[in-house]
Amino acid sequence: MPSDTPIESWEEYYKKTGARPPRETLLFALDKFETERPNNEQPLRAIDLGCGNGRDTVELLRRGWQVFAVDAEQSAIDGLRARDEVGDDVSLETATSRFEGIELPESELINSSFALPLVSPQDFPDLWDRMLMALAPGGRISCQLYGDRDSWVGKPGITFFAHSAIDALVYPLNVEYFREEEDDSTTPRGQQKHWHIYHMVVQRPY
Ligand SMILES: C[S@@+](CC[C@H](N)C(=O)[O-])C[C@H]1O[C@@H](n2cnc3c(N)ncnc32)[C@H](O)[C@@H]1O
Repeated sequence: MPSDTPIESWEEYYKKTGARPPRETLLFALDKFETERPNNEQPLRAIDLGCGNGRDTVELLRRGWQVFAVDAEQSAIDGLRARDEVGDDVSLETATSRFEGIELPESELINSSFALPLVSPQDFPDLWDRMLMALAPGGRISCQLYGDRDSWVGKPGITFFAHSAIDALVYPLNVEYFREEEDDSTTPRGQQKHWHIYHMVVQRPY
């Protein structure tokens, strides 16, 4: 059952979820890279968009990636920097910024777990285009997007996709992992919620 909700206090969210294991989409993408490049000696580059306090970033660092972690919340970046696993790791660069306007450096992986939907439908197409332009050949995007049967449809500032729109969005890419989830649950604030989530890993062809 999903547990990710744009709650009023991100600090509470970070406390609750930050120590949990990395997301399935990130692990899938990392395993793909490790299979393809078993003797890779150069560190690969990742962007973690909406990193929170680092549940995925720490896994990337642990596996030797160079990571640019971005989040709009200063408390997320502070929490990430304060983690024991991070210490003074020089492979980590961070930015406190909304990701709609930030420059995305060329990278083999753009990971965005449960964060991309929190961009408005007006801003999403430009962000997605910039993500595609930043991907190195053979690079991957691992992310979640929200579906059009989610009960938050209509909330301002959140982007939802019909299945057919996802097909159009990923058209130039190889879809390596796709799981569509629909589930009913009660949010931490006691509200009934219908979740409709696409979990995806897509690859830019070489
Ligand atoms: C649901 S949390 C997910 C955190 C982490 N990726 C994870 O999987 O647990 C979404 C995160 O995205 C950040 N966020 C949401 N919209 C953003 C935006 N437009 N620009 C930058 N960060 C954003 C929030 O501050 C929050 O830390």
